[in-house]
Order: sequence, then structure tokens, then C-alpha cells
Amino acid sequence: MQEKIRPYIEEVEKFNAATREELDGFRIKFLSKKGILAELFSGMKDIQADQRKEYGQMVNELKNKAEEKLSQLQTQIENAQDSRQAHDLDLTLPAEPIYPGSRHPISITKNKIIEIFSRIGFTVADGPEIEDDWHNFTALNFPENHPARDMQDTFFIEQKGPDSIALRTHTSSVQVRVMENNKPPIRVLSPGRVYRNEAISARAHCFFHQVEGLYIDEGVSFADMKQTLLYFAREMFGSGTRIRLRPSYFPFTEPSAEMDVTCSICKGKGCNVCKYSGWLEIMGCGMVDPNVLENCGIDPEKYTGYAFGMGIERIAMLLHNVKDLRLFSENDVRFLKQFAAE
Ligand code: PHE
Repeated sequence: MQEKIRPYIEEVEKFNAATREELDGFRIKFLSKKGILAELFSGMKDIQADQRKEYGQMVNELKNKAEEKLSQLQTQIENAQDSRQAHDLDLTLPAEPIYPGSRHPISITKNKIIEIFSRIGFTVADGPEIEDDWHNFTALNFPENHPARDMQDTFFIEQKGPDSIALRTHTSSVQVRVMENNKPPIRVLSPGRVYRNEAISARAHCFFHQVEGLYIDEGVSFADMKQTLLYFAREMFGSGTRIRLRPSYFPFTEPSAEMDVTCSICKGKGCNVCKYSGWLEIMGCGMVDPNVLENCGIDPEKYTGYAFGMGIERIAMLLHNVKDLRLFSENDVRFLKQFAAE
């Protein structure tokens, strides 16, 4: 038996291959289903019992050596090929351009707003985008039949009166949650995405982003609000910016106001962005209605506070003179990459 197997072992030991094809020939000859090893293994049964052990050991030795040789030559051939490819590299070719991602203009603007208010002690709170009737409307003093609860403005998930569930229409809902769970002093911003059932146009979208703010403590006055918002306007739009407050109405603030800033584009002289008025409306604000404080478990006899809310898209449009709101959600790289440096 040995005479039959020994030459195979020698052949395996001596074998060398420079190409995949040669190596494949070797594999087929020794290791395939109809190869030498398969044949030797199946011949085992014809070997006399006293020689079977020795025979088995030799066939196994042949098998191990063949497999070892195969994997050794495989690596050798691959390495040779890699180094040949490395040789073909033309290092003088210009590199593939790399386009790094950048922050979205809405994120940039949001972070800027947060940064300005965080310098005077505001922190950030988060809340759910799917909201219940209480946090989005009732706690905020919306009367039962207020038009903002209508299907026209709100995307309802379930419309069941006080048990309704909707996509939040403003992030004031987060402020309710903060007031319910914290004691004054409260100084918090609630940035986030909000949803309204509006026809999509250059000036309106069915979703957009807001940053709202809330400050509650003993003795907080309308003058505190005005000074804080003036500080914000100057940090955001430039130190020469002036503000004006126009009387307005929100169910959750009393008195309520709309705030305008001097047009950052024409500096108040009049242009098509400010419709030749010199002023741009940027947010709603007011003193938190005592009913709202009470709804949220805060004593309105002891505490007062102000709240404000602005649309991030609107601020970003004014800062960068963007004419169409839809650009912010279309993700056109030609638009987005203009903000890469910010
Ligand atoms: N929640 C109001 C809105 O969505 C904005 C606002 C906030 C107004 C706080 C006044 C006070 O339009």
C-alpha cells in the first residue's frame, strides 16, 4: 500500500503553481469528488484489517498535505496578484472628489437660536410629535370650538373630542409638559417639528419647525420679555436691529403680541422682502395666561411668565434670503451645499 501512496505524498510536497488554473488542476486531481483522495478513501474497505490502520494514517497524511498545499498556494497567488495590481496604480491620476455632508440649514438656524438663548440661561426640552388634545390644545386654554382645532389646521390621528390624538401643531405642547413636571423658575426652549394641514406653497408647508421659549418665575414682566427678545433679535440679525411689538391674540397668552424686526435686507429702507414696510414679522409672544399656569399646576397668584414662538424656516429664509419654503424639505444638494461652510 505504502508504495502506492508515498509517490502521491511526494508529488504533493513538490507541487508548485504560478496560476489559479494550475492550482485548480491540482485541487481537482487530489481533492475533488472523483479525485485521488476520494478514491483512496473508498478503497479502505478492500484493505486487509491488519493493514487498515497504517493505510488510513497515510491517506490522512496525504489529505492534510494536499489541503495545506492548496491553501498555501492560494494565498501566494493572491498576494502576487495584489502586488501586480499595486504596480499598475497610477498615483498621478487626480483623486475621486469627496463630498462631505454638511448640516441642514434648518439645523444650523435652530442651533444658532438655541445658542443665543442658552447664553442667558435657557435650556432645551423635547417632547412627542404625536400629541394628545390636552397638551396641544386644552391645557393651553383653547376654547372647545376654537378654529385651530379644526380638521383644516390639524392632522388628527384620532378625533374623539377631549381624547383626540393629533400631530402637534406647535411645540407649546412641550412647554405644558415642562410646566407639569417642574417647579418655577422655568427657563426653557422647545425646538421641534410641527404639522399643520395647509396647502403646500412657497410660503406654507404641511410641516415646519419651531423654537418656542418659556420663562416663568416670580415677578416676570412684559418688559423682561421685550428686553430678552430685543437681545435675541440683535444677536440673530445684527446689532443695529430694532424690534416692535404689535397687539395680537393667542389663547395661551394675555396680553399677546406679534414681534417684527427691522428688515435685515434693506435695513428698514424698504425692499420687496419686507414689502416696502421696513419690518419683518418673526414671532408670536405674550405673557402666559393665568389659566394655562393653573392648568399645569403652577400658582398664578405667585408666578408670572412669558412665552414666545417662532418658525425656524421663516428665520432661515430671512437670514439667507431664501424665497421658497419648499427648498428646505426637497433636499436638493445644489441648495444644501451652499450652507456647507456654516
Ligand atoms: N404657539 C404659537 C404658534 O404656534 C406661537 C406662540 C408661542 C405665540 C408662544 C405666543 C407665545 O404659532
